[in-house]
Amino acid sequence: MNVDGKHFRTIWMNEADESIIEIIDQRHLPHEFVIEQLTTVDQVAVAIKDMHVRGAGLIGATAGYGMYVAVASLAPDSYISGDEIMRQMVTDGEKLKATRPTAVNLQWAVERQIAAMAAAGDDLSAKIAVAKQTAIDIADEDSDWCRRIGEHGVDIIEKISQVKNGETVNILTHCNAGWLAFVDYGSATAPMYAAHDKGIKIHVWVDETRPRNQGARLTAWELGQHGVPHTVIADNVGGHLMQHGQVDMVITGTDRTTYTGDVGNKIGTYLKALAANDNGVPFYTALPSSTFDWTMRDGVKEVPIEQRDATEVRMIQGLHDGEIKQVLLTPQDSPAANYAFDITPARLVTGLITERGVCDASEEGILGLYPEKK
Ligand code: MRU
Repeated sequence: MNVDGKHFRTIWMNEADESIIEIIDQRHLPHEFVIEQLTTVDQVAVAIKDMHVRGAGLIGATAGYGMYVAVASLAPDSYISGDEIMRQMVTDGEKLKATRPTAVNLQWAVERQIAAMAAAGDDLSAKIAVAKQTAIDIADEDSDWCRRIGEHGVDIIEKISQVKNGETVNILTHCNAGWLAFVDYGSATAPMYAAHDKGIKIHVWVDETRPRNQGARLTAWELGQHGVPHTVIADNVGGHLMQHGQVDMVITGTDRTTYTGDVGNKIGTYLKALAANDNGVPFYTALPSSTFDWTMRDGVKEVPIEQRDATEVRMIQGLHDGEIKQVLLTPQDSPAANYAFDITPARLVTGLITERGVCDASEEGILGLYPEKK
């Protein structure tokens, strides 16, 4: 995606020194565009946990690069056996996996790296080469899958546009499932960018998404950079807009979707799906196949829901006098709870938009697109 006319991914390897991984530090957006360099697995773990990077796809891609950094930092001058290397990789992988429990892409990327390194022979340099290539492959695939999600999702938007005789299609989205949540394009936003680029008139309602405000800060910023008309709304507004015919469809992302179609996503998604269902508004979730959990059947019972520090609810961040500041919202002594994700049951989801096409949010629909997972 372009930032002030220059193409960026959200993560990349430094061209001059491939031991350095560079990320856009999203904590500073939309007010400052900051690039951070990561050189150790501990720095990568902090970047994921403290949300310098966030969003399921990007968390996965960052973990992929993190495992490369981990193996590349093992001393090449002293002998280290293949078994010792793999023991260290499992330890480093566990450290990364512990950072954020809900996004399944994280464990998927770590496990993919461990399997690739285990199969690469005992030699350290061979394992480093394989880990580097696997990190690049994970990032490239993520970008390619999101681009294809856009190609499939745009057909749905185009049909709604035709029914409306070319009038603006109003799409509501929650949190940030944009290119900042992936390596490029985004999942929920990919069909929006594709529609906008095709000349289909769209307008996006952007839920602010308390407590971290990923919608207000990140989705609004990236839609603006691409010239997509949008309006930021408080989290509670969507139901009202739907009752008044101002939402034609909802598209969200997901951090973990069961093979039966239950969608785990940013807290508040479930309430939007209930309101959409009550008002006959189609509710779609867009995801690459790396976000399916092929082992989980019941989202409400099985998907681990991250609980983050209460400070994120009690404080709010913004720009004041040219400086990014945090201010206290709540009474000093009021406790707060910070549930980061919820589950939208499959029955409330109109369809899943994947890199292979659109399917029903059901075991049959999903396994119909991914028969090799049966
Ligand atoms: O807590 P975050 O910012 O990592 O949560 C992001 C979301 O909930 C996105 O909607 C989700 O990751 C799906 S798109 C990658």
